[in-house]
Amino acid sequence: MLVKQMTDELVPKDLRKAYTDKEILEIEKQHLAPAVGHYYEDPVLFVRGDGAKLEDHAGKQYIDLFAGICTTITGYAHPKFVATLKWQAERLVYTSSLYATIPYALLVRKLAEIAPSGLSQSFIVSSGSEAIEAALFMARKFTKSPYIVACHHAYHGRTTLARELSTSGWRTIPEAHPSGVRFTPNAYCYRCQFGKEYPDCDYECARYLREVIRTETNRAIAAFIIEPIQGVGGIIQPPQEYFRIVHEIVKEFDGLFISDEVQTGFGRTGEKWWGIQHSGVEPDIVIMAKGFGGGIPIGGFMTRPEIAEDYTGTDSFATFGGNPLSCAVALSVIEIIQDNNYLSKASQMGSQLKTQLDEMKAKHKIVGDVRGQGMMIGVELVRDQDSKEPATQEMLKVMEICREEGLLIGKGGFDGNVVRIQPPLELTGEQIDEACIILDKALSKAEKSL
Ligand SMILES: Cc1ncc(COP(=O)(O)O)c(C=O)c1O
Repeated sequence: MLVKQMTDELVPKDLRKAYTDKEILEIEKQHLAPAVGHYYEDPVLFVRGDGAKLEDHAGKQYIDLFAGICTTITGYAHPKFVATLKWQAERLVYTSSLYATIPYALLVRKLAEIAPSGLSQSFIVSSGSEAIEAALFMARKFTKSPYIVACHHAYHGRTTLARELSTSGWRTIPEAHPSGVRFTPNAYCYRCQFGKEYPDCDYECARYLREVIRTETNRAIAAFIIEPIQGVGGIIQPPQEYFRIVHEIVKEFDGLFISDEVQTGFGRTGEKWWGIQHSGVEPDIVIMAKGFGGGIPIGGFMTRPEIAEDYTGTDSFATFGGNPLSCAVALSVIEIIQDNNYLSKASQMGSQLKTQLDEMKAKHKIVGDVRGQGMMIGVELVRDQDSKEPATQEMLKVMEICREEGLLIGKGGFDGNVVRIQPPLELTGEQIDEACIILDKALSKAEKSL
């Protein structure tokens, strides 16, 4: 078959026209559901990106420390990413998984190479929430238990079950949690629920899981689900011992251990492909999305063959799951990470960033805590170091000042007071230095109002 000639003239005329920001925002106001909210009082409109930088409609450049919510892991317009996207689009964008395709097969083979030990079988969908739903269905079927335990401050998505497992702040409809969902304390050492101090705490938060299972289930669970570092919850990273203790308890009650790596996967935490690998715990299921496609919609899970064995034809189907375009691009994302040694780059860059953020903590009374690992770092802002009152309004100020100065940061935490730094791994050392100068300035300005 011939590859057809492509020219810009074939692109819809409307897309090629010039618009003002105001016109675009007005169209959105008229036709977008209000559930779509933007950052910043005066929303920014981006038109292109390159590496770890974005350019707005007026041509202003920004260093991006948030990667469109921890997603564009290989940066913007990476040549290999773009070439793969074009190459596959010119051949076959879509056919359903009712038929075999080369990209789907090659992607799942590649995933098995980089997976935690034994997780050799994958199921691919289009988003993180969808992957969570599919994995939990499988876990319930495999264990024949309805109970799922999630952590306080977790975020697992916005489909029905994923939303119910999420306790990071948005309970917007007057509905009780459905039966089968239980919660256990996370390890938020900066604000310990038990009033303890790490490391003299005996990991009470981790041990509490046993009580949850003993008293709130029929002493068996389908799964325990955890993010190795909570992202939306505010970059909350448990001590590695937490994972080892809860894993032991999960196994005592015959449950599956699910590591939700939607934010921590694909090398973001440095040195390892998956965040959970820093603890030595071997998960039964890993959930993937966000960085998986570097911006192209794709999600999925990996598991052991014996768990997947009974997850069969009628249990699941996703129209877009495993489509050739997303799979080909995801394959290129993994190759880019390998070719550029991003796993070690993430830890080197992360150390450079953390050192500078620790210096800011020593200097600014508004910085209560700096935490995280690799290219997933959080800076918790407080109005008072002793009371730890969350600096929610000041956080908005910091974001606005950074934006004015050409820096994009994310926001997280139950009280919206945590700066989230989860940049593309394309970020350079010079960009880190530049970003830190801007953030430092923004913190100085914001803390004046305390
Ligand atoms: C840890 C985690 N799990 C699941 C999800 C849901 O992914 P999606 O928004 O692709 O449905 C998210 C999204 O932010 C997430 O951070």
